[in-house]
Amino acid sequence: MRARTAPVRPRRTPSGFTRTRLRSVVDAVVGSVLTARTLAARRCGADLGAPSRVSRAAPGEHGDVDDDAGRSADEGFAARLRRETAEAHGAAERSPFMEELLSGSLGPAALTTFLAQVHHLYAVLEPAVDAARDDVVVAPFADDRLRRLPAVSADLRAHAGEGWREHLVPLPAAERYAERLRQVATWPAGLVTHHYLRYLGDLSGGQVVRRLLARAYGWPEAELRSWDFPGVPSPKRYRDHYRSLLDAAPWDEAERGRVVEEARRGYRLNEELFDDLSARLPEWRR
Ligand code: HEM
Repeated sequence: MRARTAPVRPRRTPSGFTRTRLRSVVDAVVGSVLTARTLAARRCGADLGAPSRVSRAAPGEHGDVDDDAGRSADEGFAARLRRETAEAHGAAERSPFMEELLSGSLGPAALTTFLAQVHHLYAVLEPAVDAARDDVVVAPFADDRLRRLPAVSADLRAHAGEGWREHLVPLPAAERYAERLRQVATWPAGLVTHHYLRYLGDLSGGQVVRRLLARAYGWPEAELRSWDFPGVPSPKRYRDHYRSLLDAAPWDEAERGRVVEEARRGYRLNEELFDDLSARLPEWRR
């Protein structure tokens, strides 16, 4: 007689999703955008590089994402920037830290440590943008509605209590990222590149991250302000507006090339930051 094997039970995360299901939720939200992009690219024969998590589309799950990245012949600079950094974005997006954080399987110190790193970056970026706001290149992008430092500080206070400032300890990769931000502070196009990476990221994937965190941990919206832009009622419309600013930026071909390179470098810095965070996972798992 053959021994009966016990049915394999899928492992559940604290959010109630199985790991496979969680991956598919993240994939669905992220992949729906990229799938639309891929289809658009196939239609016009463009090569988008290798976007990371192209899986299945889930209409209705992803909210207000865009699919204008497949153009090639008459594409503006914003579309080119997105297309030429798609692979770097994909690499930055795939991190064990984010996956486990969004699965709801980590203790609160994981979010606090993550937000402390984000705080470290905005504490350099936002004063640099303020200092350059009269510059002809930077001025159109310098919009107070985007300011993140007060929101990130409020989230840190909500999750770590009154002593939240003690948690502001940058990881080595955050130090390197901040150092690069200091270096580009006097190069307007470089500053705009990092502005684009952080704010358009918060207005795009950040909206997904916020929804998944709320779902996984049951945190109220008031404790997830880091990705909330009360002055921006439609992130989608704002992103379109932002892209028109990128299209209109007075950069010649050489400068545009440098911007693309800087954006790739910025994604790598983010990837390294996620690597540092991923290395701490064992102490945060519940
Ligand atoms: C968990 C990690 C991440 C997820 C799930 C995520 C997801 C997304 C999604 C769904 C979009 C919309 C794509 C589109 O409209 O075509 C997006 C766009 C974007 N993300 Fe991320 N992302 C992540 C990490 C990052 C990081 C680390 C950065 C850099 C700081 C970043 C920067 C951006 C930028 C700049 C855009 C706008 C691209 C453009 O339209 O030009 N993302 N992200």
